[in-house]
Amino acid sequence: MKDTKTYVEENKQRFIDELIELLKIPSISANSNYKDDMLKTAEAVKKSLLEAGCDVAEINETPGHPVVYGEKIIDPDLPTVLVYGHYDVQPPDPLDLWDNPPFEPVIKETRIHPEGAIFARGACDDKGQMYMHVKALEYMTKNDKLPCNIKFMIEGEEEVGSAHLGWFIERNKEKLKNDVILISDTGMIAKDTPSITTGLRGLSYMEVEVTGPNRDLHSGLYGGAVANPINILCKMIASLQDENNHITIPGFYDRVKEYSQEERAKMAEAPFDLKEYREKLNIDEVHGEEGYSTLERASIRPTLDVNGIWGGYTGEGAKTVLPSKAYAKISMRLVSDQDWKEISALFKDHFEKIAPKSVKVNVNTHHGGQAYVTPIDTLEYQAANDAYAEAFGKDPIPQHSGGSIPIVALFEEELKSKTILMGFGLDTDAIHSPNEHFGIWNYLKGIETIPLFYKHFTKLKQAEK
Ligand code: BES
Ligand code: MN
Ligand code: MN
Repeated sequence: MKDTKTYVEENKQRFIDELIELLKIPSISANSNYKDDMLKTAEAVKKSLLEAGCDVAEINETPGHPVVYGEKIIDPDLPTVLVYGHYDVQPPDPLDLWDNPPFEPVIKETRIHPEGAIFARGACDDKGQMYMHVKALEYMTKNDKLPCNIKFMIEGEEEVGSAHLGWFIERNKEKLKNDVILISDTGMIAKDTPSITTGLRGLSYMEVEVTGPNRDLHSGLYGGAVANPINILCKMIASLQDENNHITIPGFYDRVKEYSQEERAKMAEAPFDLKEYREKLNIDEVHGEEGYSTLERASIRPTLDVNGIWGGYTGEGAKTVLPSKAYAKISMRLVSDQDWKEISALFKDHFEKIAPKSVKVNVNTHHGGQAYVTPIDTLEYQAANDAYAEAFGKDPIPQHSGGSIPIVALFEEELKSKTILMGFGLDTDAIHSPNEHFGIWNYLKGIETIPLFYKHFTKLKQAEK
């Protein structure tokens, strides 16, 4: 029987090769042209679960992309860990900004990853991190180190809002029963600073359409006399934040949890270098809500951002036109205890209200999800803490993240268990961007740390009995 470190060391080349094969399949959930590749990826995940030791692995159809489920039940009286991850990836666009094709993985060294990093769409988010759990299971089954039951739920629609995962969970509550949910789909502070994500922001994603005249007009003949929907849209968007970068939608902050000075002081202990942050992004100054630090603005405070805006003429050269329509995609990151459906309704109401009579507006909700907070005074968190302490030689720092995994709040609601977010990505891994990558060190460290969670969790859980 080998310890995790030795097993990982002896098998690392194969672990890397297997992940590379998985990364070659373009599982882009947002684009219906890739439906076959989605299924192909689900098949590959299923196969890998069986090879790693699952007794059962299956592909479950949903009204959307399938969910892969697997399990190894060694004793119904022992605790059960449910692993969640996603096999879908973001579209790779813009393609011309990739140094290598997004679905032809290459290993390259970077300053932060001198051991090399795998460059491919999905390398970190989330195929690489999801696959760490498959290899952790392999280690545990091959070395007789699986101390409890394990279940996997790997979905294919996370990057498009997990539209049908609720549908799947509702129909499979008994099958998905567990004592804790384990996810690696977030990041850590730095390679020498392990951290556990204890907060995720919620999300409300809206699309607005502003219509002026019933057709595009000559901007000389009509300009100045008829409302230009792009001009109007820009004004409306600008009014959504005041001079202190507070969001102006009435009621928006009503349910926002305010943290005590003590809690904020504790959060501020996490290592963070503002100068380095600015330099890495090549910006002279940061920007955000008055009265909050950069770390707070990007984690425990809600936001409103335009993700895309279009209309009129954007082709080569100049065309004089007063367009008929203008559009924007606007997302709001939410924090507890905001409710995404309520916020979406508040946004819609407000946006319709502030529109001048010279235009018509149409506001639609794309998707959303609630924020999530993992309490740290629990057995589940303690087990994760102990796993990191053993693998890294120091306690991990609990830290709120600004990102969202909208389905996590639903897990707690439906399955009544806590979620532990053991992320191994770094902020610089360029998830959702060109040249996404995942450090080989991080990948292997994850495979090494995960089995230790099972060990400590089972031990603490059994002692509780
Ligand atoms: N894995 C990310 C979320 C994440 C990344 C959380 C890093 C914390 C740290 C996830 O795949 C993601 O991209 N979520 C989307 C939301 C979704 C509805 C598209 C997001 O946060 O934009
Ligand atoms: Mn993800
Ligand atoms: Mn993502």
